[in-house]
Amino acid sequence: MSPPAILVLGSINTDLVVKGPRLPAAGETVAGGTFYQSPGGKGANQAVAATRASRQDGARLIAAVGQDAFGDAALKNLLHVGVHCDGVRTIPGEPSGVALIMVDEHGQNCISVASGANRLLTPGDIDQLPEQMFAEARVLLACLEAPLDTVHRGLQRAKAAGLTTILDPAPADRRIATSEWMQYVDILTPNETEASVLVGETVADVPSAVQAGRRLDSLGCRRSIVTLGARGCVIVSERVTHVEAMAVRAVDATAAGDAFNGALAVALSEGCDLESACRWANGAAGLSVTRPGAQPSLPTREAIETAIRDRGRKSIGEPL
Ligand code: RIB
Repeated sequence: MSPPAILVLGSINTDLVVKGPRLPAAGETVAGGTFYQSPGGKGANQAVAATRASRQDGARLIAAVGQDAFGDAALKNLLHVGVHCDGVRTIPGEPSGVALIMVDEHGQNCISVASGANRLLTPGDIDQLPEQMFAEARVLLACLEAPLDTVHRGLQRAKAAGLTTILDPAPADRRIATSEWMQYVDILTPNETEASVLVGETVADVPSAVQAGRRLDSLGCRRSIVTLGARGCVIVSERVTHVEAMAVRAVDATAAGDAFNGALAVALSEGCDLESACRWANGAAGLSVTRPGAQPSLPTREAIETAIRDRGRKSIGEPL
């Protein structure tokens, strides 16, 4: 077994989910839902997505949990999937992260997160990670469910070690839309909502996604991929490319972005060009929305390859 090629810096949550007929408005109660609990957190989801999508070496997660039942169960699950957890810190006296999620009958969701231990991962924790962890990896994938200064340090360290860095700016935070941040980000992967926050303009379709990509480029972000759900994604780099999504019946969109980012990281670590990597990542995201829950919905490499092949697309590693 080779060492993990993907380092994921992020969060670990337990998702408490109600799937109901529709999302309630403020102050409203909507009855008739069903409840399930599932392992989640954007960082953990991305590490699981990358591990399931990789040939063999999986991903290593840098994150924090509390010393409680949710944290113990989350770690046990991650280890069972094959995620390397030697970068996960256990913080006594703090609750582990929890996300309350509501999903409607069309698969749309809204999420409220109590970060708990996730917000106590520090830049010092990043400094203490062994050099070998970075030297062995090829890609660092980070999200914004860890504190901003910690993510910033992780990106800096990854760039210094020569890794490709991917930043999923979720949940969106306008403070990262600066050249100081973008100098450490090789690829930024906002969805429509996050892109709207970052550029201060509504992103809702392909033309506005292209516009947002160009605005991000002016901040020093040379390559952005704006994900657009059922409309696929738009790559804005030296040229603009719209990569269409797979057509699927959506059950639950939770972790679709994590599936996309995890698969993207794997494809890039294997030397794929950006367009092929996005086609593959779209396949992973498409499959994930056909199943309920965050981590339970994340597809294996075989499932992604089969789905893409069945739709007449080329598999990972094959030229387009
Ligand atoms: O991206 C989906 C994730 O966001 C959920 O698993 C939830 O924990 C929140 O972090």
